[in-house]
Formats: sequence, C-alpha cells, structure tokens
Amino acid sequence: MQILTHQEHGSGNPVVLLHGFPGSSAYWQLMLPQSAAACRVYTPDLPGHGASPLPDGEASIDAYADAVAAWMRHIGLGRATILGHSMGGYTALALLERHPDAVSAIGLIHSTPYADSDEAKQNRLNQIARIREEGMDTFVEGMVPKLFAPQHLTSMPEHIETVKAIGRRNPPEGAMYALEAMRKRPERLHLLQQAGVPVLLVAGEEDQVISPARTLVVEGDHVTSASLPGCGHMGMYERPAQLADVIISFVTQTAL
Ligand code: MLT
Repeated sequence: MQILTHQEHGSGNPVVLLHGFPGSSAYWQLMLPQSAAACRVYTPDLPGHGASPLPDGEASIDAYADAVAAWMRHIGLGRATILGHSMGGYTALALLERHPDAVSAIGLIHSTPYADSDEAKQNRLNQIARIREEGMDTFVEGMVPKLFAPQHLTSMPEHIETVKAIGRRNPPEGAMYALEAMRKRPERLHLLQQAGVPVLLVAGEEDQVISPARTLVVEGDHVTSASLPGCGHMGMYERPAQLADVIISFVTQTAL
C-alpha cells in the first residue's frame, strides 16, 4: 500500500483532519493558524485526492480507513482525535470500526453515519457518468456552489473559486472512486451510539448536502454537538474561526 501525503502543523494533542469530496488537505488552510496554535494538526490527502496516490482494487470507504491507519502507523502516530468533514467523516467512522486503537476521539463535521438513500445512490452513478463524459472541470463547476449556503454564493466568491480549483486538481479516477465508495458505504449509526470514545458532531444550519438532522443524530454524556449558524456544508470556509473554536474546545476537554 502506498502511503498518504500529509502536512503537519503545531504541537500538543494530536488531531487528524480528514477532508471531504472533492477536496484535499488544502480544504483546512483557513483554519490551520488557529487550530495549530492549540493542537498538533495532521492533514492527510485521502487516496486519489491531492498528492496521494490513486487507490487499488474495489472502491470502498473501508479502503480509505485502512490507508489512514497505515499512514498513522508509518508516521508513528499511535492514537489521535480523528475529525472528518463529510466524506472524511464516513472514513473516520470506518476507521473507528476497523482500527479502534487509532481513535482517541471522533468527530463528524457536516457528515452523517447514515448510508445513501436509493435516490442518492442513483445520483452517484449519474455523477460518475458525468465525470467520465465531461471531465472534472464541468463536474466541479456544477457541484461546488451547492456546498455553500445560498447567501455565500455572492459574498464568498473567492472561497468558491478556491474550492473549485482544489477539486479540478484531483484526478477524475480518484473522484469516480470516491463516488463509488460513498455509494456503497454502510450505515454506521451504532458506532456513534456505542462509541467508547468522545464524539463531536458539527452541523451547518444551512447545509443543503447533509442536513443538521442527519448530522446531529445521537446524544449522551459522550457527545458534544454544535450548530454553525449561517453555514452550509463548508464550515472550514464559511465559519473557519467558529469551527476551529469548536474543535479546540473538544480536543482540550476530551484530552483531560
Ligand atoms: C463531501 O463533501 O464529502 C460530499 O459532499 C459528501 C457526499 O456527497 O456524501
């Protein structure tokens, strides 16, 4: 297995930030100064995204989780708080299931433990066909605006262009693999309900991709929940300071 590329910033409690689709480690750029002042932050590129190699074999989120576990072993990172944005959250849950020793706390940011609906599964197939026929540029151009809250389409044009540029840099094979892996992922709600580790759930109140109702799905002494007002699916661009505050507070409390 080829090892993932990553960046590392700051010192203190280790936190791994797993990006969503069609992103890369660059998604976290705006949050890094604040987060790295309080924690040791690792931002890997998931397989087939950013500078990480394309994955082999049948597409699965489990394969992403195995790649993250192998990368953690490779860099000598025994256990960390694993926080995933959207597809990165699907990967964090698979990591908790398959490699529990690697996870000291888990967080889903604009993500969900539920599987795709039948309609969403069909939409994934349509998206794969669109990438194959029209390429990444057209796909990214159509998809990225839907990630942001409607009012940010006019107020955050530079962030939207940045996210499009990150998406365009990903190889189409990596994006098609990701869509197939997300289409096939199982529900993992029980993992959050019975997690033996602290859980963080962060929703964007105006997320049109994954609604707050699909993110804020469990309660309990082990769960910390946060809703970001005026935020769509991209808290790291739409509310970077607030999201960094939520993460730092969670990491600081759960490390006690
Ligand atoms: C993501 O942001 O990772 C994707 O939008 C997640 C998804 O399509 O399920």
